[in-house]
Amino acid sequence: MPENKRDLSYLTSLPGATERLNIFNADLCNPDSFNAVVEGCIGVFHVATPVDFQDKEPEEVVTKRSIDGALGIPKACLNAKTMKRVVYTSSAAAVMFGSNKDVEEVVESFWSDIDYIRPIKRYGPYMISKTLTEKPVLEFSEKYGLDVVTVIPSFVVGPFICPKLPGSIHGTLTLVFGNLDELSFLDQPLIKK
Ligand SMILES: NC(=O)c1ccc[n+]([C@@H]2O[C@H](COP(=O)([O-])OP(=O)(O)OC[C@H]3O[C@@H](n4cnc5c(N)ncnc54)[C@H](OP(=O)(O)O)[C@@H]3O)[C@@H](O)[C@H]2O)c1
Repeated sequence: MPENKRDLSYLTSLPGATERLNIFNADLCNPDSFNAVVEGCIGVFHVATPVDFQDKEPEEVVTKRSIDGALGIPKACLNAKTMKRVVYTSSAAAVMFGSNKDVEEVVESFWSDIDYIRPIKRYGPYMISKTLTEKPVLEFSEKYGLDVVTVIPSFVVGPFICPKLPGSIHGTLTLVFGNLDELSFLDQPLIKK
């Protein structure tokens, strides 16, 4: 990517990167851009997603980009014919809002209710996009027999190597510093009344 001016030294300086790391330019808005990335691979971790906690874009735009990319990547994996497993990173947001009863265990049949999430300020569009993206990914996997597993993290915290402060670390620090406006989604009861 000669035209890319981003500082990627935190990746290129990783041990073994000179021999084993290849960096490609790919965009969820252009799902075909992942074809070259997955060629010859046996495993894919799909973690990229539009993360916009400032609500700069409407829910529909964020969701479309998330779904287009999340379906484009398994399609590219299928075409590659070498893929053994695809790991898609979903989110606790896709399951935690909307059950109408208190339960001790959340299982695969649980999904957040997007109408219940919609009034939530800030994180709402992100949480809707995560809920509406995981379902078609799983349907694609079932229809075409691609081995896809989904991971449902809550907050991921800890040391990081990228130059910018990750959103999840920022979110966790707001708990420490008491700036709870930023986490207003915590005001939404998990159980629908
Ligand atoms: N962190 C958590 O606590 C947490 C909790 C639950 C679920 N998750 C899920 O875990 C995954 C990773 O989260 P994260 O915290 O690492 O988020 P992050 O730091 O914001 O990383 C998101 C990545 O997606 C890439 N991306 C965004 N839009 C893109 C596009 N149009 N095309 C290609 N790439 C694009 C970003 O690339 P750029 O760097 O180029 O912008 C960035 O590398 C996400 O699927 C997220 O929903 C995270």
